[in-house]
Amino acid sequence: PAGLFDGVWSVGERHQVWMSHGDRVTATPPGFEVVGTSENAPFAMIADEARKFYAIQFHPEVVHTPDGAKLLTRFARDIVGCAGDWTMAAFRDQAIERIRAQVGDGRVICGLSGGVDSAVAAVLIHEAIGEQLTCVFVDHGLLRQGEAEQVVDLFRDHYNIPLVHAEEADRFLDALEGVGDPEAKRKIIGGLFIDVFDAEAKKIGGADFLAQGTLYPDVIESVSAIGGPSVTIKSHHNVGGLPERMKMKLVEPLRELFKDEVRDLGRELGLPDAFVGRHPFPGPGLAIRCPGGVTRDKLAILRKADAIYLDEIRKAGLYDVIWQAFAVLLPVQTVGVMGDQRTYDSVLALRAVTSTDGMTADFYAFDMDFLGRAATRIINEVRGVNRVVYDVTSKPPGTIEWE
Ligand code: XMP
Repeated sequence: PAGLFDGVWSVGERHQVWMSHGDRVTATPPGFEVVGTSENAPFAMIADEARKFYAIQFHPEVVHTPDGAKLLTRFARDIVGCAGDWTMAAFRDQAIERIRAQVGDGRVICGLSGGVDSAVAAVLIHEAIGEQLTCVFVDHGLLRQGEAEQVVDLFRDHYNIPLVHAEEADRFLDALEGVGDPEAKRKIIGGLFIDVFDAEAKKIGGADFLAQGTLYPDVIESVSAIGGPSVTIKSHHNVGGLPERMKMKLVEPLRELFKDEVRDLGRELGLPDAFVGRHPFPGPGLAIRCPGGVTRDKLAILRKADAIYLDEIRKAGLYDVIWQAFAVLLPVQTVGVMGDQRTYDSVLALRAVTSTDGMTADFYAFDMDFLGRAATRIINEVRGVNRVVYDVTSKPPGTIEWE
């Protein structure tokens, strides 16, 4: 029995939790008693009731621990005494105040990626400081079909936010030529992004601040937040690494939010539902969905196939139950037949996952009819693909993207 579990779990019950079996605590600190165990972890839960200190070795924050949220609620509300009156409307007001206080009458340049995060950041900042904000949309030629147009329409026409559309596809694609290593690709794209920003900032007469739609998971996965030993899994280019020469300070109003919270904030700010509900899209775009070297031809194939896949997902009414779905063009060719011709074309992998924050994910269990339909359409309609496979890896051990 322990205060933390009161009203959640009772003595003697068994419950499912998610934990790493690589780690094992071998002794408890003074004052603690053991209140929960697993086969592998003799000290899975420990408590010091006198001081109201609790420690658990499993992850309460993941969906695989079905009662995790109840434990966190019990701790925050009943034990710590938090009121639980935080609302997105209040966050919006506070964020606006913070942005005004940070920026003063300085000028802000905001990078739009085409995704939800940077769009929400931009609209929020625009509410805070209006015309002091200029958005720069760096079109790196690595977006999905039709995406660049949608961004320009939304910002210029719908919101009337000053927007520079920097069409730099050639520069990015030339720099990526022959580069196969995923980290090298991210570094090139991230570096060029910064070059473009720098140039655009100079053109509009200088900006004091650079705004970005960095989210909390980006922060956790890119850096060792508390200086601990956790390794960098992927260097998401939108965090850190800004060269000194930019001489711009960062405005990152979403840094403490998870994706679902950013969507709530987007709705709060009146962004269209279809935009807010968009699947996440990585900054380096389709470059990390073309394992190996990126070429214009490969991107054209990938764009077409990806659009068909998403079209089928929408038609099946599945877009909103899936966290993220996309196609990956593999650097592998296989033999096939088309009519009476032998083909030797690329393999395309389809990926779809469910998740609440992108930190963990499960592959989506489509029915086979759906997969068959999508594969047939892709092979019939996209020249250059003659085989389609479906990725059934969850995260961990996989990551959502292939690179
Ligand atoms: P992974 O592949 O690490 O992805 O499981 C988790 C989430 O992050 C997105 N992602 C990125 N976003 N720059 C970004 O802005 C990146 O380099 C990057 N890599 C992955 C991914 O799409 C998923 O939503």
